[in-house]
Amino acid sequence: MLNYDYQNPTRLVFGRGTQKQVGALVRGYADRVLLVYGGGSIKKSGLYGEVTASLRAAGVSFTELPGVVPNPRVTLAREGARLCREQSIPFVLAVGGGSAIDTAKAVAAGALYDGDLWDFCMGKKIERALPVGTVLTIPATGSESSPKAVLTNEELRIKKSMGSDLLRPAFSILNPELCETLPPEQIGYSAFDMMSHIMERYFTNTPHTEVIDGLSESLLRTIMKQALILRGDSKNYDAWCELVEAGNLAHNGLLGLGREQDWACHGMEHELSALYDIPHGAGLAAVTPAWMRYAAPKHLPLFGQFAVEVMGVRGSLRDPERLAEAGISALEDFSRRMGLPVRLHELGIGGGDFALMAEKSVQKGGGTLGHLEELSARDVENIYGLAL
Ligand code: NZQ
Ligand code: ZN
Repeated sequence: MLNYDYQNPTRLVFGRGTQKQVGALVRGYADRVLLVYGGGSIKKSGLYGEVTASLRAAGVSFTELPGVVPNPRVTLAREGARLCREQSIPFVLAVGGGSAIDTAKAVAAGALYDGDLWDFCMGKKIERALPVGTVLTIPATGSESSPKAVLTNEELRIKKSMGSDLLRPAFSILNPELCETLPPEQIGYSAFDMMSHIMERYFTNTPHTEVIDGLSESLLRTIMKQALILRGDSKNYDAWCELVEAGNLAHNGLLGLGREQDWACHGMEHELSALYDIPHGAGLAAVTPAWMRYAAPKHLPLFGQFAVEVMGVRGSLRDPERLAEAGISALEDFSRRMGLPVRLHELGIGGGDFALMAEKSVQKGGGTLGHLEELSARDVENIYGLAL
């Protein structure tokens, strides 16, 4: 196990009706907020009305930044930072999924910075940020307590993240009831994204990590079980409770303790969603089995453990290749049952851009991508090809 120094300060307020506390929670920090949200789901569900009523009741005034789209654009974040600067707004409140939350985080960093906030995605250190609060409506990205914000630069057609502990939200309201309006396809995207956040950490070269391995395996099994329940009954509150909790644990940093992490699948997916504007979870579901088949031959015990402990495969350790493949196939079966793609062509993606995307994906890591296997651009291109 490796050394670590870990702190996650985000206050989590979980359960039915908790969105009604938002005004009082914000009031602990500020009496004015920038309210960041997406394309209208919160108005349709009535959440917008509840949040604004709670803000008003607590004496909090607000300026709105609507219109966040999935794979959120840097342009809107710049606009939010400008509003915060011009109106001296001291707090940013996101109501929505990862895209609204990531926009709010970028606004929070950009508001206190003289330059262009895209600089933070290019490696500039975040020195200061406004506090952020969230009301989560999709359990998937873990952004409600993660230190990252992922933005798409629509001019450059690239997707990159900025990160700092300063971006971890001050509080996040997690009411699983709010997820009951999610469309069926979004349940699959959500489940696969949180599973991927665990798998990016689970597939490691670091030995002696049994505590986190066990937590990871249990979470992965639970996510699959509860997601399948939701596939048949999207208003099952108890199942949403499990997914909301799992989504947060998957990406709040706990499961990365003391171990090298991989992140190749996320790196490959971010190129896909930057170029084709596909949902993040769908891209991950399509690319992950191919990455697994590429990496497994050199890490058969690890993939065998995944097959047995996570996917529930019964097979012989004397035939480790077959065991590893059975685990990967079982993951694909789960994806199919969730209505997720398991190949890129199912997303309408052909092979034309693979070399370019592969080159861009390794540039972010200084020439290679991932750590279980340090992939070259050629390796990444081959994996895209396998995923086709
Ligand atoms: O825009 P609205 O109208 O709100 O509709 C949204 C959007 O169309 C809808 N939606 C959200 N909550 C709903 C709902 N519809 C009905 N009922 C509800 N309760 O769902 C659609 C997708 O929303 P989005 O926020 O884009 O989804 P998600 O939470 O999956 O976020 C994806 C983004 O987060 C990034 C991804 O790359 C992607 O850009 N990630 C952020 C991370 C982080 N900050 O730590 C880590 C992740 O790995 C990921 O990269
Ligand atoms: Zn993700």
